[in-house]
Amino acid sequence: MIKTKAAVLYESGLSMPYAKSKPLKIEEVNLRDPESDELLIKVRAVGLCHSDLSVINGNRPRQTPMVLGHEVSGVVKAIGDHVTDFEVGDHIVTSFIPNCGQCLPCKEGRPALCEPGAEANNAGTMLSGGLRIEHADGSDVYTHIGISGFSEYSIISTKSAVKIDRDVPFHHAALFGCAVITGLGAVINTAEMKPGTDVAVVGLGGIGMNALLGAQLAGAREIIAVDVNESKLEHAKELGATAVFNASEEGVVERIREYTNGGVHYAFETAGVVPAMKTAYTITRRGGMTVTSGLPDPKEEFSFPQVGLTAEERTIKGSYLGSCVPMRDVPRYISLFKQGKLPIDQLIGERITLEEINEGFDRLHEGKSQRIMVEFPE
Ligand SMILES: NC(=O)c1ccc[n+]([C@@H]2O[C@H](COP(=O)([O-])OP(=O)(O)OC[C@H]3O[C@@H](n4cnc5c(N)ncnc54)[C@H](O)[C@@H]3O)[C@@H](O)[C@H]2O)c1
Ligand SMILES: [Zn+2]
Ligand SMILES: [Zn+2]
Repeated sequence: MIKTKAAVLYESGLSMPYAKSKPLKIEEVNLRDPESDELLIKVRAVGLCHSDLSVINGNRPRQTPMVLGHEVSGVVKAIGDHVTDFEVGDHIVTSFIPNCGQCLPCKEGRPALCEPGAEANNAGTMLSGGLRIEHADGSDVYTHIGISGFSEYSIISTKSAVKIDRDVPFHHAALFGCAVITGLGAVINTAEMKPGTDVAVVGLGGIGMNALLGAQLAGAREIIAVDVNESKLEHAKELGATAVFNASEEGVVERIREYTNGGVHYAFETAGVVPAMKTAYTITRRGGMTVTSGLPDPKEEFSFPQVGLTAEERTIKGSYLGSCVPMRDVPRYISLFKQGKLPIDQLIGERITLEEINEGFDRLHEGKSQRIMVEFPE
């Protein structure tokens, strides 16, 4: 057992600003020893994702107390008895859906849909069951999607880890754990976008900006960037968007349809709200595909005229973990980054300490920052 400083969520839905209500309490907790197929990780960088914010604000409630954080890079410090494919000193990136390798979706090459992985994530436990974090009095703290990275140290299953090259800076590497695979994967794996087509990205956070970079890499002709926030639109232009539109303005759908002569071939919804999904669907052209990576409140519903789906031969697709196979795709995407084809270093905003994390979530909520990264010293 070791001690670690962590940010613990005790209650969802506290009032904003979080700088004042402090939903995340920084405290020392205990980490139990890793089990046979688990790793003890020294966390070096962890991103603030909207999926963490959705637990904090109560849109997607989880068990509490819980340590959130799922976009992690770090170093292996200890391994369980049966671990063969990792060793102490390895650098890793986490994957937020443990893939068991045995269930039908895993065997079909769709680890994002791993059934025991989803079950463990929904229960707030490790893949092998049980919990690894506890308070000083021995009481349990839940695990967030197998990772719980808002902590100096973390215990993760080997099925939640991908080994990476040691020369990638940690604050860059962490992004590959969620934002890059989700955004880039939506374009490359889920949509299988064809070169020369027109694309729109609706919602320009960490996920959406990576979808934009993915569309560029895959050879899009037009890349239409849509957000409600002007600073995001400016940044999208710098990253290669060919046109930008503010979704809060009147008539934006008609203007985009006019600009693209009838709509885009592929629209990616990466905001996680139903109005953005509506925008994405209605700016997709006849025969086009609307892909959503957003995770809104489970009570929210999106509707569309069924006749249009049929008569216009449209497709709507969900994209979880960018339909990625993390062990295959993380190393590939890191290579693209190293070759200068994927400038994800331009997607990082503030780099903060664990103590500043509540303020960080206030800024994520405002929607103006680039990806905010918590870093830990060696
Ligand atoms: N599918 C997955 O595997 C997966 C993985 C990670 C995150 N997510 C989800 O993806 C979504 C985005 O995550 P993020 O971390 O990039 O969020 P973020 O908060 O960084 O970005 C969201 C962006 O959407 C914009 N936006 C809000 N309403 C809009 C509207 N009506 N039209 C256009 N833009 C709008 C915001 O201004 C912001 O720039 C969230 O729902 C998150 O839970 C999904
Ligand atoms: Zn995420
Ligand atoms: Zn599985």
